[in-house]
Amino acid sequence: LEHELEDIYNTAVELARKAGEAIREAFYKEKNVEIKQSAADLVTETDQAVEKMIQDLIMKKYPHHKFIGEETVSADGSACSLTDDFTWIIDPVDGTTNFVHSIPEVAFSCGILVNKQVVIGVIYVPILDQMYTAKKGQGSFVNGKKLSVSSVKELKSAAIIMEGGSSRDPDVLSTKINNIHSVLKSCHGIRAYGSAAINLCKVASGMYEAYVEFGIHCWDIVAGMLILQEAGGVNKDTTGEEIDIMRRRIIGANCENIITEIASKLTQIDVGRD
Ligand code: IPD
Repeated sequence: LEHELEDIYNTAVELARKAGEAIREAFYKEKNVEIKQSAADLVTETDQAVEKMIQDLIMKKYPHHKFIGEETVSADGSACSLTDDFTWIIDPVDGTTNFVHSIPEVAFSCGILVNKQVVIGVIYVPILDQMYTAKKGQGSFVNGKKLSVSSVKELKSAAIIMEGGSSRDPDVLSTKINNIHSVLKSCHGIRAYGSAAINLCKVASGMYEAYVEFGIHCWDIVAGMLILQEAGGVNKDTTGEEIDIMRRRIIGANCENIITEIASKLTQIDVGRD
């Protein structure tokens, strides 16, 4: 298994570089944008082309592996079914809105699971040439440099990442704004990068104490969850309970205490399941 995992890891890094090349090439050109679930839920030809290319390469090399990809799921509207098999969960372009606006925080995100556990996480930010990697039990790195979370233990001294997300449902939006209000009044500040994958990498890098979002999907978070965990962090549901990667909610933080403090300030939103 050790040998097999090493081979899969090397392939994931190689595929991330390939995806990165395609994203970089399209980044400086005019984009063809379509909308999905809401007027702010975007997809471009690049999302679809990168996913197809990566899926084909994975299936050729590992025909017995399973694949869950953002654009494949969006196209056929099917629910994700996660088995114990090796499963690649991919977001070809996390931060599509950034991509459309030529904002450089755009990531290819790839998490590999076995027995429903994330064992490999690779996130590549091609415009900034940042390769984030993690293998379960072996730490996480950016361009080979080891990552570790911040040592701040209280929300009042913390910097937090919270996103607006892509839902335009008025009730969802007002709850999100209220949640931002209650967290912001108790911490140093709030920022957002427009990519769940990058947000988790920022917490893993020790710049922020936590990242909170309702409405993300499994492909936005699986790779980043392992990168954060291997940097010493924790991932939970927005209630502070055990995370369910299909439940579309996350608090990723440097420590349990900050999760408990944030969870106590949030009004929960039920966004359904992947
Ligand atoms: C989006 C990003 C963003 C988050 C949205 C996601 P996409 O993913 O991760 O940070 O706020 O909820 O949908 O659509 O660009 O892959």
